[in-house]
Amino acid sequence: MSNLEQTLSIIKPDAVERNLEDKIKTVFKNEGFKIVKEKKIKLEKKDAEKFYKVHETKPFYNDLCEYLSSGPIVVMVLEKNGAVLDNRKLMGATDPKKAEDGTIRKEFGLSIDKNTVHGSDSLDNAKVEIDFFFAH
Ligand code: CDP
Ligand code: MG
Repeated sequence: MSNLEQTLSIIKPDAVERNLEDKIKTVFKNEGFKIVKEKKIKLEKKDAEKFYKVHETKPFYNDLCEYLSSGPIVVMVLEKNGAVLDNRKLMGATDPKKAEDGTIRKEFGLSIDKNTVHGSDSLDNAKVEIDFFFAH
């Protein structure tokens, strides 16, 4: 049975800065994801604050928003069967030190804040996040 889903992925500033964009896209493609939309942008801090609003009460919120708006990012819509969960698995744990071998964060992540990629954590949030970047 088909379970085609779309999820939002972001290649974060630490990875764009290290020229990892193509390598990470290749990882997604090799795992069966189709990149159906993509753009390279630089967010204003207020946009990062909107995007990460769910974390506004967390102690790391301000640094996180500073960071996401600190340099260019690549925003992508990824599509495959079970895309949301498969992308979370492929990303690995939030803290690269705890991420499993073979995951993007294990291979490329620098630290819990500079962890290379973002991925939607549910189908509902994927729709909201895709809209946030691509609904116009
Ligand atoms: O990105 P993910 O969904 O795995 O983690 P999150 O809990 O939704 O947190 C969002 C982002 O905040 C993480 O990807 C980290 O970049 C950052 N973060 C942080 O800087 N320090 C923490 N203790 C937790 C998260
Ligand atoms: Mg999250």
